[in-house]
Amino acid sequence: MTARAIPAPSRFAWPWLDRGGRVSALRIAVLVALTSPALVLLALLAGGDLGPEPWKQATREAGSHAAHILLISLAVTPLRWVAGWPKAATLRRMVGLAALAYALLHLALYAGHLAWDLWAVAKEIALRVYLTLGFVVLLGLCVLGWTSTDRAQARLGRRWKRLHRWVYALSAAAVLHAFLQSRARADSAVVLAGCWIWLMLWRLLPGEHRARPLALAGLAVAAAVATAVVEFVWYGAATNLPAARILAANLDLAAGLRPAQGILLAGLAVALLPLPRLLRPARA
Ligand code: HEM
Repeated sequence: MTARAIPAPSRFAWPWLDRGGRVSALRIAVLVALTSPALVLLALLAGGDLGPEPWKQATREAGSHAAHILLISLAVTPLRWVAGWPKAATLRRMVGLAALAYALLHLALYAGHLAWDLWAVAKEIALRVYLTLGFVVLLGLCVLGWTSTDRAQARLGRRWKRLHRWVYALSAAAVLHAFLQSRARADSAVVLAGCWIWLMLWRLLPGEHRARPLALAGLAVAAAVATAVVEFVWYGAATNLPAARILAANLDLAAGLRPAQGILLAGLAVALLPLPRLLRPARA
């Protein structure tokens, strides 16, 4: 029996180095963009600038960053196709690990909110469905983070891809966790849901349409409609608010930017990204 070759630890270990071991300005920029929200948040917390319930506010913001960065990690592949930027793929691991780091920070801040009473934290997680769900997502992200190395990828072979596809379900569960804690102020959860829907619908597009402006514009409309439906269902099923009036506000420009409209505008902006490449004269 031949032993499977385990690659030597790669020189990719430091986040600011590229695969060739060179310092990369792009990776440094992404690293700064990923770490600065945490540094700002911790500075605000230490300075007592987070309102009357600083730990609660910090918990909420860290959770929001975790979910957004998780969705950004799912946007790396579309970005690669739509913007014709293959280098984007080299950033995915860093972005995914940042999502995990923010989720861990979110849990640590929640423990701080409960005065570091870990027994109370465990009890709350066991008793409240939305916290149990968040905990399951966190465990899943830990597994994906642990197996994100080159070595684990080589060891797991084909199973690695199957394992890492769980990120779709985990991100959906993270969005549900955000909805369940939001109750009647669900705008940010609806935005997360809209982004998740766009990212999943994009993956359903046939390969040849994934970077076509017209297909992407259609996708923007479909994701916006689905976002409005999710919002309607949420308010109708989980709150006493007038869901039909909230749905109608999507057609009223005077009502302020609704989540579904934001998804439509963002989706249409993405649809413009392939244009410079398509309009560039073809080389002889
Ligand atoms: C053990 C795991 C977790 C615990 C105990 C937990 C706890 C909480 C709590 C207590 C809140 C509500 C804060 C408040 O308004 O009172 C919250 C909100 C939230 N959490 Fe978690 N969470 C966990 C895991 C996660 C994970 C893994 C993610 C995403 C990857 C996440 C994303 C969010 C988001 C997006 C919100 C809503 C933030 C907002 O209001 O804008 N959470 N979480």
